[in-house]
Amino acid sequence: MKNTIFAIMLTVLVIGGGWFYYNFTQYAPKTYVKDIEVTNSDDTANKNIISTTINTETGTTSTTTPLFTLTSIASHKDASSCYSVISKSVYDLTMWVNIHPGGKGAILSICGRDGTEAFMNQHKGGDKFMKILSRYKIGNLM
Ligand code: HEM
Repeated sequence: MKNTIFAIMLTVLVIGGGWFYYNFTQYAPKTYVKDIEVTNSDDTANKNIISTTINTETGTTSTTTPLFTLTSIASHKDASSCYSVISKSVYDLTMWVNIHPGGKGAILSICGRDGTEAFMNQHKGGDKFMKILSRYKIGNLM
């Protein structure tokens, strides 16, 4: 009988202690808000890339589409960071500069600015090209 009572007390102590430790000590899990970029590689260029914010405290998520001004895009104007606008969508073409089958120069010529006209003149906005572009979408023009 004594042993049973002892065992029950021990169990309560261990579980209760663990619960207290987990919730109320400095080691309790921290709540934090995490930003994740969701990139949809199979999307067509017109779908929005969204930035999802998950609040781990409440479990809620909120989504936004990053917006860029032409002024902010203008600072990404060379091979080290190349942003371009095509049909009001913003693309980070930094990776594409070096692998574009038509050469680096063509892409570098549209870094930091609206490249819609140059792109349309060359590739006519064909499906194949839009699909490649969609991989690099980072947001929309404000
Ligand atoms: C920014 C997005 C662009 C993408 C995704 C893209 C994609 C491609 C692809 C896949 C090719 C291979 C040819 C083919 O498959 O038909 C190509 C070739 C070529 N691209 Fe682009 N391109 C882009 C922008 C541009 C721009 C802005 C120019 C010119 C100002 C350009 C000029 C060329 C040229 C001259 C060729 C080689 C000739 C040809 O095949 O038409 N490209 N591009």
